[in-house]
Amino acid sequence: MKIQIIPSILSADFGHLQDEVDRVSSADSIQVDVMDGHFVPNISMGPAIQKSIRTKLPIETHLMVSNPEKFIDAFADAGSRRIIVHGEALEDPLPVFEMIHRRGCEAGLAINPDTPLTRITPYLDAVDMVLCMTVFPGFGGQSFIPSVLPKITELRKMFKKDIEVDGGINFETARRCVDAGANLLIVGSFLYRNEELTPQQVIAKFRERFP
Ligand code: DX5
Repeated sequence: MKIQIIPSILSADFGHLQDEVDRVSSADSIQVDVMDGHFVPNISMGPAIQKSIRTKLPIETHLMVSNPEKFIDAFADAGSRRIIVHGEALEDPLPVFEMIHRRGCEAGLAINPDTPLTRITPYLDAVDMVLCMTVFPGFGGQSFIPSVLPKITELRKMFKKDIEVDGGINFETARRCVDAGANLLIVGSFLYRNEELTPQQVIAKFRERFP
């Protein structure tokens, strides 16, 4: 499967957000991290900010929120091509996946590092991709949690669609995740806070490593 490089704008300079999005024009898509201060201990951005972004790249929206069903329409209206919800935030995620598909978006299911695969295996046929968080969600710049790797390997055995990783992804941890079976790489601080390389150079080097 094609390895896709997807910058998370959570680590971008929000004072120059459009410029920061323009700086990753060679990526496969961009990720908008939405946090409500309830499901995760941080608040980030809403549909109005996403709607303000001008880009040719597909936008995927990672809803780290309680009651994500309340926000599907707003983010679909704000241009989401993919909407990812957390299994931990929903008793029954199936109606939410149906809502997302009715809006013409891809449906993604995210799980935290300590959530077992058994929590999501009943829903794998209903989603277009799974996000295995490699940090506990809420902040960029955290350290990669290697104990998630066996979960990715197990998931890849039963799930042939896209598997995404998010949190602490750099050249070294990306290699470990791709070897385990992931093919979508969310990169935040390693791309936007890199002291040696520009975002475009980071993307180019990822492409060299994962042709
Ligand atoms: C949840 C967020 C972050 C962000 C990536 O905390 O989803 O994981 O996108 O952050 P980095 O790449 O800086 O770990």
